[in-house]
Amino acid sequence: MTTTTAGPSGTAGTAGPSGTAGTTGTAGTTGARIAAAEAHSAHNYHPLPVVVATAEGAWMTDVEGRRYLDMLAGYSALNFGHANPRLIAAAKAQLDRVTLTSRAFHHDRFADFCTRLAELCGMEMVLPMNTGAEAVETAVKTARKWGYRVKGVPDGRAKIVVAAGNFHGRTTTIVSFSTDPEARADFGPYTPGFVTVPYGDLAALEAAVDDETVAVLLEPIQGEAGVLVPPPGYLAGVRRVTAERGALFIADEIQSGLGRTGRTFACEHEDVVPDMYVLGKALGGGVVPVSAVVSSRDVLGVYRPGEHGSTFGGNPLACAVGLEVLAMLRTGEYQERAAELGDHLHRELSLLTGSGKVTEVRGRGLWAGVDIDPAVGTGREISERLMALGVLAKDTHGSTIRLAPPLTISEADLDWGLAQLRAVLGV
Ligand SMILES: Cc1ncc(COP(=O)(O)O)c(C=O)c1O
Repeated sequence: MTTTTAGPSGTAGTAGPSGTAGTTGTAGTTGARIAAAEAHSAHNYHPLPVVVATAEGAWMTDVEGRRYLDMLAGYSALNFGHANPRLIAAAKAQLDRVTLTSRAFHHDRFADFCTRLAELCGMEMVLPMNTGAEAVETAVKTARKWGYRVKGVPDGRAKIVVAAGNFHGRTTTIVSFSTDPEARADFGPYTPGFVTVPYGDLAALEAAVDDETVAVLLEPIQGEAGVLVPPPGYLAGVRRVTAERGALFIADEIQSGLGRTGRTFACEHEDVVPDMYVLGKALGGGVVPVSAVVSSRDVLGVYRPGEHGSTFGGNPLACAVGLEVLAMLRTGEYQERAAELGDHLHRELSLLTGSGKVTEVRGRGLWAGVDIDPAVGTGREISERLMALGVLAKDTHGSTIRLAPPLTISEADLDWGLAQLRAVLGV
């Protein structure tokens, strides 16, 4: 395993970024780049005012030479750290061979990627796409077609049960079943066919699943909602209900999967195997966008040529990087590291809950949602104060900070990051 070597006391010579972090703010190069971006890009994000130029392991360096510890890891896309040597080598080797064929032709990395990914999931078939949202769309289409062709739901009646507070992406269909007004407002008319139940409430879910339900689509841990872990027994209960009623259990493990929680899949914490995994983010190692739906022959076998696809889905470069990701995950060492360091992270964070500044901490493995007393500041303000001390993290809703460092982070760097959080909270 490659762990970060440039720690807080590493070659930069100072703890974290240079001592000037936060004092120059958005002046100079940083300010100019941000102003240009604001002028010429849609304002669909509100990034922290830092302009990253390079990154390695768990550390990023901005255009002014300041160093920051990455405690977000591209929302789990960078589980293996920035510029992971194995992944970069795999990408470079493939760049010199062939990068794109489209699916009009076969290429020599495709079969291996699909076989290895199916093996990792303990399933039979793979449908590769690029982004997470595309994979969720694919899952929705697959479940509907399966519902009509296999389950026998009357045409046009298929229903998918989803959870309040979900985040599955940004397409028109996906925002149709979002409960977040910011994500949804002004984007109608909305796609019908979704029923929303409270997350973690098994009785409500059970009441919502009927003969026309083709699937239940859930995040095993809700990431964007604030790293919400459902009550014990919930996922196992969803598995039981869906099996009894002949509906598919679709686990969106785009953020929770591939090692983040200390297991390959978050569903494993309840010994649950869904009917379909939806994967993305870390599957491309933070190098290229790679996503996939993975399921049984019974389910993914419903497709015929022309019914679904993507020009870039399963391209040679994506498959080469994805194959290396899968080889790394097969060793189990990243999962183990996330479990061990995650225990450490949660032990340290639990000490903060007695401080009065932190009201709740949730999560599993190297993934935590930290609710900060709003009197201390908004999530945005806390993130900006952390940035000034050399830690990049991001708020979710309200005063919740999400911590999800690369799984390759060293314990010393993690401790240094936590020390900055304590400094910001004044505890
Ligand atoms: C659980 C989950 N599903 C889907 C997505 C969408 O992925 P993408 O941004 O690659 O479209 C995300 C992104 O954060 C996610 O966390």
